[in-house]
Amino acid sequence: MICLGIEGTAHTCGVGIVDDQANILANELDMYRPEKGGIHPREAANHHSDVVVSLIRKATETAGIGFRDVDVVCFSQGPGLGPCLRTVATAARALAISLDRPIVGVNHCISHLEIGVAKTASSDPVLLYASGGNTQVISFNNGRYRIFGETLDIGIGNMFDKLGRELGLGYYAGPKIEKLAAGGDKLLDLPYSVKGMDMAFSGIMTAALAHRTRGERLEDICFSVQETCFAMLTEVTERAMAHIEKKEVLLGGGVVQNKRLRAMVADMAHDRGAEMFVPEPRLCIDNGAMIAWTGLLMHNAGVRMTVEDTKVDQRFRTDEVVVTWR
Ligand code: FE2
Repeated sequence: MICLGIEGTAHTCGVGIVDDQANILANELDMYRPEKGGIHPREAANHHSDVVVSLIRKATETAGIGFRDVDVVCFSQGPGLGPCLRTVATAARALAISLDRPIVGVNHCISHLEIGVAKTASSDPVLLYASGGNTQVISFNNGRYRIFGETLDIGIGNMFDKLGRELGLGYYAGPKIEKLAAGGDKLLDLPYSVKGMDMAFSGIMTAALAHRTRGERLEDICFSVQETCFAMLTEVTERAMAHIEKKEVLLGGGVVQNKRLRAMVADMAHDRGAEMFVPEPRLCIDNGAMIAWTGLLMHNAGVRMTVEDTKVDQRFRTDEVVVTWR
């Protein structure tokens, strides 16, 4: 069984091809990079429509297969930016209809967890999913992937990008913030915003910018933002692990490339006698292979969708999906 998956929830358009054994035969992607400012949904969608067909061709070439060898077509049904979701859904529908193959819409957040389970030694983890648009702590419990904690305002990566722009670091600021943070050592006062099991990041950005206005060093601001935000993420993840008694933590999303975040979560896992797992970088960021693999699991468990069922959902919740494949 060969499955082709198309990812397109935000800035990345990706096409992955996998088989039943979770072998990744291809995982092509192309990222929209705005010249200035953040992601403009319509421009990102235009980018995806420009590249999706060539990515599909490239993926089949890399996998060494023909279109007819594809048994199932999958796509990211949500959550994400409406114009982007609609663009890749249209591509997936066109491919499925022209090949006369089943189509499966996949929840993007769940696919980060499923690819991590498939490609690391982890089997039943708590996922810390930290990316631009999403920040959630997710784990399987009682038939669904439950959200144990999440952001109440913006994704942590989105906050880093906004902060980076305000500080003049340019787009895709995460790696620059990490580099600057390494030169900081003064912990500035920022609002540690864990509310119940949920988190808020926008107030931290406002407070960090106020420190800059008062003349604090860029290095100390970045250091303090990282220490505060990552401690929040680690705390919520640890409480989820304690609550449902899980011994594994899995990382997913672009922000988990940050070494300081990894070190904090690794320390927490070690102290609890638990283990941390991190997929390879190309499987942590948004990619088509994770969509293909999750769609294949769903298809093999009997999930069938009509074209009418493939309507995209910008606010597709992780816990809306009835998980029949575990
Ligand atoms: Fe993602």
